[in-house]
Amino acid sequence: MQRLTDKVCAVTGGAHGIGRATCKRLAQEGARVAVLDITDEEGRAVRDDLASDGTDADYWHLDVTDETAVQETLQAVAERFGRLDVLVNNAGISGVNKAPHEVTSEEWDEVMAVNVRGVFYCVKAAIPLLRKAGGGSIVNLSSIYGIVGAPDIPPYHASKGAVREMSKTDALFYAPEGIRVNSVHPGFIWTPLVKAMAEASEEGKDAFRRNLDDLHPIGHVGAPEDIAAGIAYLASDDAKFVTGSELVIDGGYTAH
Ligand code: NAI
Repeated sequence: MQRLTDKVCAVTGGAHGIGRATCKRLAQEGARVAVLDITDEEGRAVRDDLASDGTDADYWHLDVTDETAVQETLQAVAERFGRLDVLVNNAGISGVNKAPHEVTSEEWDEVMAVNVRGVFYCVKAAIPLLRKAGGGSIVNLSSIYGIVGAPDIPPYHASKGAVREMSKTDALFYAPEGIRVNSVHPGFIWTPLVKAMAEASEEGKDAFRRNLDDLHPIGHVGAPEDIAAGIAYLASDDAKFVTGSELVIDGGYTAH
């Protein structure tokens, strides 16, 4: 499918996992892609991979917790490609896995800085650019953990609940200008983020993976490409009547 021909798409956290698969899928749909991340070697590798398939792609180092850098980088993306049509707020961290009463203020703030403040900064910087393009689409990565609870990673739950609600509020603010804002809610996806949680778990990586698989009625965790497909849909005009919505892609996790 070529639903994004010549659309300029910026993906934060584009170097690994869901972000990397999203860059690839958007490119396959005809987009021009800005890969943004803090891991430069892997980010450049994604850019090179896309370019080798004929996609107009570029890489920028961007830490989404730095408001000035966010402003300058999204401006540079728009100058490099001539416009910005789509922003995918994908960069995220899982943070500490402790009971709430053991979490320090610093640990709490670290997760909020990336998962919530980062989304806020990127939206703030992107809005004038999307307005200039005559409209656009913002896709925010929330989580099943932004919808239901579980007894783990408390700051992460709070951050993803915030992203879900920010998406709806921003959708209402910008709908009259043709800027759509939606959230995506993945179940567990086997990426570096989840592999790190598995490695740090008490039961060990293999048992952790088996337990995770069992939590999804479909019988296994998801792949980054499962989420990238949903993001591409929300980015495209197939979703032109979709804003303020939450796209759950979770193998049935939240259907219980
Ligand atoms: P990942 O850890 O594989 O990739 C995250 C990417 O974000 C990495 O490339 C990392 O370098 C980048 N990043 C981290 N901090 C950054 C910062 N300050 N500025 C810019 N980039 C930064 O994670 P994964 O699993 O691909 O997750 C992507 C998004 O999807 C996250 O927002 C995550 O919370 C969300 N998600 C993931 C799920 C999963 O099971 N993997 C489930 C539900 C949501």
